[in-house]
Amino acid sequence: MKFNCLNKILFVILLPVAQQNLAQTTISIPDTLTGDVIDLTLQHGVREFYPGTATQTIGYNGNFLGPTIILYKGHQITLNLHNQLGDTTTTHWHGLHVAPANDGSPHNPVMAGEIWSPSFTVMDKAATYWYHPHLHGKTLNQVVKGAAGLIIVRDLEETALSLPRTYGVDDVPLVFQWKTFDAAKQIVEMDEADNEVLVNGTINGTLHLPAQVVRLRLLNGSSHRFFNFGFADNRPFKQIASDAGLLDAPVPMTRLILGSGERAEILVDLSGLQDGTLKLRQFGTQLPQGYPGGPMMMGGMTGPKDNTDFDLLTMQIGAPTSNAVTAVPATLTTNTAWPQAGASSRSLNFSAQPMMSMTNFFINGLKFDMETVNFSTQVGKTEIWTITNQTMMAHPFHIHGMHFYVLTVNGATPPANLRGRKDVVVVPPMNGSVKIILRYEDFSDPHIPYMYHCHILSHEDTGMMGQFIVNAAASGTFENAAQEHLRISPTLLAPDLEKVEISAENGWEPFRVEVYDQDGRLLLTERNATRIAADRLAPGMNSILIFTARGTAVFKVVKTN
Ligand code: C2O
Ligand code: CU
Ligand code: CU
Repeated sequence: MKFNCLNKILFVILLPVAQQNLAQTTISIPDTLTGDVIDLTLQHGVREFYPGTATQTIGYNGNFLGPTIILYKGHQITLNLHNQLGDTTTTHWHGLHVAPANDGSPHNPVMAGEIWSPSFTVMDKAATYWYHPHLHGKTLNQVVKGAAGLIIVRDLEETALSLPRTYGVDDVPLVFQWKTFDAAKQIVEMDEADNEVLVNGTINGTLHLPAQVVRLRLLNGSSHRFFNFGFADNRPFKQIASDAGLLDAPVPMTRLILGSGERAEILVDLSGLQDGTLKLRQFGTQLPQGYPGGPMMMGGMTGPKDNTDFDLLTMQIGAPTSNAVTAVPATLTTNTAWPQAGASSRSLNFSAQPMMSMTNFFINGLKFDMETVNFSTQVGKTEIWTITNQTMMAHPFHIHGMHFYVLTVNGATPPANLRGRKDVVVVPPMNGSVKIILRYEDFSDPHIPYMYHCHILSHEDTGMMGQFIVNAAASGTFENAAQEHLRISPTLLAPDLEKVEISAENGWEPFRVEVYDQDGRLLLTERNATRIAADRLAPGMNSILIFTARGTAVFKVVKTN
């Protein structure tokens, strides 16, 4: 990138604030953690966001943010959360389909100095998820100081596609966070006043990328504001995944809006740009009115960078790699929402008090109360939620424990990039509405609820949240009850045996069986199976996931040589 002198002078004169950040730092790519046992330590730290100034932070296994956890569908994992924060916390696996007891919600507190060790089978599809603290009333405080990290789930379906997949090279995780720094350059909780954007913890940084098709995994990890991403030259890119899975096909676009908590994977073709640069920008002026970060409604609070377009990141383009992906697949997967026939309906309404308030929000007229379960439902049920928003601002709405499909936004079919698996949906302001469909596939717990809430953390902390209990389909059953109604034999498979048999009680017949090897590779998926041929199993440990209408069971079968 060459500046001529005149440009440089104009730049300095017109943009004195940007000038301070002209010395660009290479943004860091988080380390990865994988395996059967994953250790995370939540701790205090210090980081220099501004040269020469120490800012107090919180991080997982480091000073700020945390490692990217790589998980494989079908794997059984244990996560050990070491709480070295000197304060109570939780860690929530945002987007992962886990039982309420493993969810890391406000109901799974971890005291100072303690270790929390949830253990579960990864049941999610390949996509980008994330983790962050979730202690009621303290979420903003802990997340805003840096406690958050990414989770990448891999599965065989995604692995079979010709997509960029070399972590940190042509498959790059990017955590975007609006932050509020005070005069002493400390991060403060006043998220209404956000005045800076960090990308992987760096202000206005540089990212080195090869001149080829690259995949960017974007997380809006902000506490409050939205992003409207685009490239400075308006080049098109393709979204390939939403929050919780691949889209049916790559969706061409030039702008991408993400609310707090939302993720997207995009492909951008950088071939031909070697030795050049490309800027990724925030197009705040093009956000719809009432979306924090964009133009706010009359009387709405505005931060110093609201309703502005500015660069988020400079991509410095180098030589292509030898294994560059050149042809992007035309189709990726098939997303099929559950049938709407027979689904029950549920309504949620967002309101503000007083009506024009930009800080005091309610769901169905109520504030969150740890002791109040807002509703109960049942495993096996499909529900359509209609969420209406009577407030002056957009709210990114999130549900724990399961993904959903968006049926309508303001009464219309959503754009193609919102038609995949989601766990956060933006509910537009001023009587905006969305309709979503979801199914309580398996986990139930009579005591521990799942949460739903606005992912603007100050709204969540001040009670824009609710909770629900998923009851078992039949009385006396709870999480993993399916295990008790299914049998698999043998579980130790000698070489002379031909098959493993699955037997089920009435009503617990498997509708799908999935087999994974010990590296989490899917070996087999079959409908209505009652046996698995021995030659379909891998030597060593196999995980057999059996899905029934009333719950899911996981069995281990060891095949000996
Ligand atoms: Cu990412 Cu309940 O949160
Ligand atoms: Cu969540
Ligand atoms: Cu909100």
